Amino acid sequence: MRILGIESSCDETAAAVVEDGEKILSSVVASQMSTHGKYGGVVPELASREHLRAIVPVVREALEQAGARMNDLAAIAATAGPGLVGSLLVGLTYAKSLSFASGLPLIAVNHIEGHIHAVILEARRAGTPVEFPALALVVSGGHTHLFEVSGDGRYRLLGRTRDDAAGEAFDKVAKLLGFGYPGGPIVDRLARYGNGTAVRFTFAKMKGNALDFSFSGLKTAVLRWVQARDLEAEIAARRALVRTQAHPTDEEWLAATPQDTLDLLASFQQAVITELLTRATASANRMEARSVMISGGVACNSGLRAAAELARLPCPVYFPSPGLSTDNAAMIAAAAFPKLRRREFAALDIAAQANLTLA
Ligand code: KG4
Ligand code: ZN
Repeated sequence: MRILGIESSCDETAAAVVEDGEKILSSVVASQMSTHGKYGGVVPELASREHLRAIVPVVREALEQAGARMNDLAAIAATAGPGLVGSLLVGLTYAKSLSFASGLPLIAVNHIEGHIHAVILEARRAGTPVEFPALALVVSGGHTHLFEVSGDGRYRLLGRTRDDAAGEAFDKVAKLLGFGYPGGPIVDRLARYGNGTAVRFTFAKMKGNALDFSFSGLKTAVLRWVQARDLEAEIAARRALVRTQAHPTDEEWLAATPQDTLDLLASFQQAVITELLTRATASANRMEARSVMISGGVACNSGLRAAAELARLPCPVYFPSPGLSTDNAAMIAAAAFPKLRRREFAALDIAAQANLTLA
């Protein structure tokens, strides 16, 4: 059973055809990075315009690559939220029109559920299926959530960020220091050259739910660190590098980044990783998880992957491959598969919801 998945919740227009919830026949992602990069973050109006431009060719490309026609499909799935409402509307409305025209059922998918299914899909494909109950840490530019996931696809929220998402913290720190957008990949690359214990950050004590996260204190600490130094010329030089060079090499970045700043990046990344893994470990222990799944854009982070291997987690840890960690539509089609089996279809008047929750 083949599902066409469509994703447009943020700054990626994506479409994919996935068979039986595990075999990716095609996965096309049109990134808007070059549009938003110069603004240091996603500009919602530009994002919707770019989605409008890309949606038809991206879906056509996904069908062509899969060698599929509309009548080979069992359903059409689209992200209904959470995300930018103007962006969500483009993918969801196009999915509705395809569903209306073809008579195929429409399946609405929660974007966060999609990130979790990226892991389930790959693990099943690799012949090492995720065992349940599983702990899911979804960590991206918009989300930092811990869920208990049961075998029958039920979710229980264990903890979430009270302020910034982890990816947002990476992006804000990178922007502040002149590294451009998105910040996560560049901090990840340069952190390898710094000392992760050089700068000490204090961790927020959580009142109430001890499994909640907070990243805004970390961001403020970085701001104070910058303000205590005279970094204007250094930051201006990196901003100029970003403006003139689409993809600076490590050598170019290193020439523009003194050791102190590399140490700060490494220490910041280390602090985020500690925050994430401490709470993931506590959650996994508390719920007696049989697997831990870590997904979302920040799951690409090489430091996080290495630290998760070493962390004393009580069960196996699964990461999606990098292409399935960041936003894509294969994860949306995969998340739709159990819904197709349950015949959980959406009405054509379903609304896009910027704040849609999973649990
Ligand atoms: O999942 P995603 O593509 O979109 C959202 O749903 O938000 O995640 C994008 C986020 C951005 O904040 C980006 O900086 C972060 O993931 N990211 C990373 C890395 N690659 C992407 N953060 C840390 N290390 C990385 N290697
Ligand atoms: Zn995402």
